[in-house]
Amino acid sequence: MCGIVAYIGPRQAYPILIKGLHRLEYRGYDSAGIAVLNSELKLYKTRGKVANLEEAVKDKDLSGTTGIAHTRWATHGEPNDVNAHPHFSYSKNLAIIHNGIIENYAPLRNELIKRGYKFISETDTEVLIHLIEDISINEKVPLPEAVQIALNQVVGAYAIVIIDKNDPDTLIAARKGSPLVVGVGENEFFVASDATPIVEYTREVVYLNDEEIAILHRSHDLRIKTITNIEKTPYIQTLEINLSALEKEGYDHFMLKEIYEQPRSIRDSMRGRLKAREGIVLLGGIIDYQQKLMNTERIIIIACGTSWHAGLVGEYLFEELARIPVEVEYASEFRYRNPVIFENDVVIAISQSGETADTLAAIELAKSKGATIIGICNVVGSSIARATHAGSYTHAGPEIGVASTKAFTAQVTLLTLMALMLADSKGTISKSRFNQLLHELDDIPGKVEETLKVNPKIIEIAGIFKNSRNALYLGRGYNYPVAMEGALKLKEISYIHAEGYPAAEMKHGPIALIDEEMPVVVIATNKGTYEKVVSNIQEVKARKGKIIAIITEGDETVKDLADHYIEIPETEEMLVPLLATIPLQLLSYHIAVMRGCNVDQPRNLAKSVTVE
Ligand code: AGP
Repeated sequence: MCGIVAYIGPRQAYPILIKGLHRLEYRGYDSAGIAVLNSELKLYKTRGKVANLEEAVKDKDLSGTTGIAHTRWATHGEPNDVNAHPHFSYSKNLAIIHNGIIENYAPLRNELIKRGYKFISETDTEVLIHLIEDISINEKVPLPEAVQIALNQVVGAYAIVIIDKNDPDTLIAARKGSPLVVGVGENEFFVASDATPIVEYTREVVYLNDEEIAILHRSHDLRIKTITNIEKTPYIQTLEINLSALEKEGYDHFMLKEIYEQPRSIRDSMRGRLKAREGIVLLGGIIDYQQKLMNTERIIIIACGTSWHAGLVGEYLFEELARIPVEVEYASEFRYRNPVIFENDVVIAISQSGETADTLAAIELAKSKGATIIGICNVVGSSIARATHAGSYTHAGPEIGVASTKAFTAQVTLLTLMALMLADSKGTISKSRFNQLLHELDDIPGKVEETLKVNPKIIEIAGIFKNSRNALYLGRGYNYPVAMEGALKLKEISYIHAEGYPAAEMKHGPIALIDEEMPVVVIATNKGTYEKVVSNIQEVKARKGKIIAIITEGDETVKDLADHYIEIPETEEMLVPLLATIPLQLLSYHIAVMRGCNVDQPRNLAKSVTVE
C-alpha cells in the first residue's frame, strides 16, 4: 500500500521519479505527488492516478537532482490533493513521503497543536514531519538525529523518505513494518518500496530492516544506523529481476499477460526442484527443516486472500499425501485470537508480496511461541521471506496486476512439491504412486498451455454474463478452494458480487439465491465425487440457474447438462486446481474488460496490504 520512490545523484530526478511512480502504481492509486529540490523545494500533488500528476506538472520546472515521490492508498483522510503526499513540515523546509500508519498520531497531533502547530491535512504523516522538525529545532540536533528521536516516539508502521531544503546533498530514509529498498549506484542512491523502479539503473540494493535509518549523501557511502543509534554495515545484494517482466509486452493488461505467463511461471516454480525422471523432489530452501516437518504433528497455514485459497489447496495436499493434520487460518484472525501454538508446530506462511501486515504479525506471534515458520513468498528479500526460519520462493516473477493470478498457481505448485517431498520422506505414499504424480506434475505446464486455448470460448461466455449482478461458484474437494478463488477474482475486478462454496453446502442456504438470472460456475472435474457434483448441477438446473461447467475433456454427461461448458485436459484430481483456475481467471478478466473496469488497478484495492 502506497508506493515510495526517491532519488539523489547526478541525474535529473523527475524522470526517474515519475517512471518509478508508474511502476509502483499497483501499490496504491488514489493520489500522487512529487517534490524536487533545486534551490527551491517544489512540491506538487493531485488526486487520482500518476497520469493526473504528470498532466498537472507538465508545464512546471521540475529540474533538480534530488527528489521524492509517492503514490497513495488512503488510510487517514480521504484521497484528495491535500491529503496526498509529500507533506511539508511547518516551515516548508522539509518534506516527507510515508507508507504505513502512525497509530499514536492522535496524541502526538494534540501535543503539537498545543504547541502552536497547525495542520493542513488529515493525515498521520503530517504529524510525523511536524514532530521531526519540532525536535530538530527545539533540541538543536541535526536532521538524522531528529528523525531518530521522533521514530522512537512513534507507534505503528512506516517507510519514510525525507528531503531537506537546506541540505540538497542528503536524503533520509527509514522503515519499520513497511518495505524499503535502497538502490546503490555510482555516486547516487535510489529508494523505493520495492525494487521495480530501481532495477533499470542499478542491480545493487540494500533492503532496510525494521527500525533502520539510511542516510543517503550524494558523495558519501551509504550509512545505516538503527533508531537506537547502532551503526550497521550495509548488506548489498544483487537484484535478479528481468526488466521485461515489468512491461506489458503487447498485452492489454498486466493481468492478461500474467495469466498467459502461467506455463512458464509454474515451470519456473518447479525448476531444479522436481526431477521426475530421477524420482526426486528437492526443495533446497527447506531441506534443513525437513526432519522438523516430518516429525510435526500439525501444520498451520497462515495467509490472506488468494494466498489463503492456495493454503486451502495445501491442506488437502498435505493431509492426503503426507497424512499430517493441517489447519488453514486467516492471518488476521489467527493473530488476534490467542491461538494454541505448540513448539512442535510448523507454520507455513504464504504471501505473494511478502509484505502483508497481518501475515507478518501472525508469523511473529507463532515465532514467539516457538513454532517453526516456513515461508512461501514470491518477492525475494521481502519482509515475510526474511521473518521466516526457512522457505521456498515461488519464482513466478513480478506480479503487477492487483488481482493475483500466476502467484496463486505458483503457490499451489510449491505446496504440491512440499507435500510430495514430505510424503516420500515419511513413506506415506508408495514409490510408484510418487513417481506417477511427479510425471503428472511435470506435464502440468504443457496442460496449462492447452487450457489457455479455451480463451475464445470464454470471451463468448463472458459476453453472455457480463451484466449479471451475482454469481455462485461451486466445487468439491480440491475444487472448493478453486471455486472461492474464482469468485474472489470476479468480485475484485468486475465488482459483481460472487460467492465460492463447497458444492454440497449450496443446499444449506445459497440455493435460495438461485433463479434464472443466476450464473452458477461449477468445477465438475472430480473423479471421487463426480456423481455428487452431477446431482448438485441438477439441483441448480431444477431452479433454472444457468450452469457454466468446467469439465474434463470428453465428459459427455456434464457437457449435456450444462448451459455452457469449458473443457480442460485430464489430470490427477489433486493437480486440477492448477488447470481449473485458468478459465476462471480468464472469465473474470473478460467480464471486467467488457464492463469497462480498470482490470489492473481495481477500485479500493492495492497490491500489497501493509496495513491491518
Ligand atoms: C488477490 O487477488 C488479492 N488482491 C488479495 O486477496 C491478496 O491475495 C492478499 O492481499 C494477500 O496478499 P499476499 O499474497 O501478497 O500476502
